[in-house]
Amino acid sequence: MTPFPVMLVVGARPNFMKAAPLLEELLRFRDIFSPLLVHTGQHYDHNLSQLFFEDLQLPQPDFYLGVGSDSHAKQTAHIMIKLEQVMSEQHPKLVIVFGDVNSTVAAALVTAKLGIPLAHVEAGLRSFDRAMPEEINRVVTDCLSEYLFVTEQVGVDNLRREGVHDDHIFLVGNLMVDALKRFLPLAEQSGIINRLELVPGTYGVLTLHRSANVDNAERLHSIWETIQQVGSMVPLVFPCHPRTRKRFAQFGVEHANLENHIQIIDPLGYLDFLQLIKSSAFVLTDSGGIQSETTFLNVPCLTMRTVTEQPATVSSGTNVLCGTVTDVILSCVREILSGNGKQGKTPPLWDGNTASRIVAILSDKLE
Ligand code: UD1
Repeated sequence: MTPFPVMLVVGARPNFMKAAPLLEELLRFRDIFSPLLVHTGQHYDHNLSQLFFEDLQLPQPDFYLGVGSDSHAKQTAHIMIKLEQVMSEQHPKLVIVFGDVNSTVAAALVTAKLGIPLAHVEAGLRSFDRAMPEEINRVVTDCLSEYLFVTEQVGVDNLRREGVHDDHIFLVGNLMVDALKRFLPLAEQSGIINRLELVPGTYGVLTLHRSANVDNAERLHSIWETIQQVGSMVPLVFPCHPRTRKRFAQFGVEHANLENHIQIIDPLGYLDFLQLIKSSAFVLTDSGGIQSETTFLNVPCLTMRTVTEQPATVSSGTNVLCGTVTDVILSCVREILSGNGKQGKTPPLWDGNTASRIVAILSDKLE
């Protein structure tokens, strides 16, 4: 039997740590699957892209589309045009997409229009906030997918409510945990804690890049004020996303603030970042993926959003939705510093075996 051609499409930082364990598992079954990796180039900075390929030991992509940044419509359209060509030439029999970034929805649209079956990893998650570009990407991608691989029970419930038949829904757990388990021993060897002159357990990690928080001048000024107050209570390390750096400059946010113990650094690779959050007292973030990573690592996470598409991180895990109100954030930080940070349990199936579950389901279905 000729191996089954499967195309994995990635584009932005949060895709890479999900694709790595799945690609590795598919490659273990080369007699059944012949995987091709496509990188759209949505993220192109070394630290957001190539460094992750190196850290995660991902092979170089078979196709790099080099689309770069633009408005949502233009970025999505550029990805679609280039992907249509690659898919038309390569004839994959299945396309796999990850998460909720623009590359995900662009690939889903092209795949569906070419009549190729689509698998969505991290399906069914909903923030119910259509103002988030990611929410639109999730809803559209799920609508077009034949195989919906879900990380937590709520995702199954959401899909059922939207009328998706059970035959298409597979609760498989979280691929990010596969990557965490595999790479934690390597992350231990990272020198990041010494390099930044930190003492484990005595600092917080900040990430901030969500459009709703950084693309509005008034909101960004106000959040930064609050963060400075946090920085006066506890040292913070802030690997700063290029989007946020740009907005700081554009909105004139005075962010050089070493005096208040806020270390602003370039975005870190996967291994350094893992070690940084694992050794921290808490993480203050508006990221999606970090909410599940901190839950697995049992590190308190304060999420500067009012909703989450991953409610298991709140109901079982260490996540607290603190929003962006100053008093709420400060009181959550105080609680953590007094030793009462949220402890949690890892949700079911977040066990490092998600890739093998997905590959087993695909082998079975595609036969
Ligand atoms: C994207 C995802 C978001 C994810 C985030 C992780 C969408 C809609 N959003 O947001 O869900 O949490 O990635 O990083 O897909 N830029 C660079 N270098 C890069 C990439 C981006 O400088 O390598 C700058 C560009 O100026 C660009 C801006 O960041 O205009 C935004 O990039 P984009 O990929 O559109 O969205 P992210 O904010 O990175």
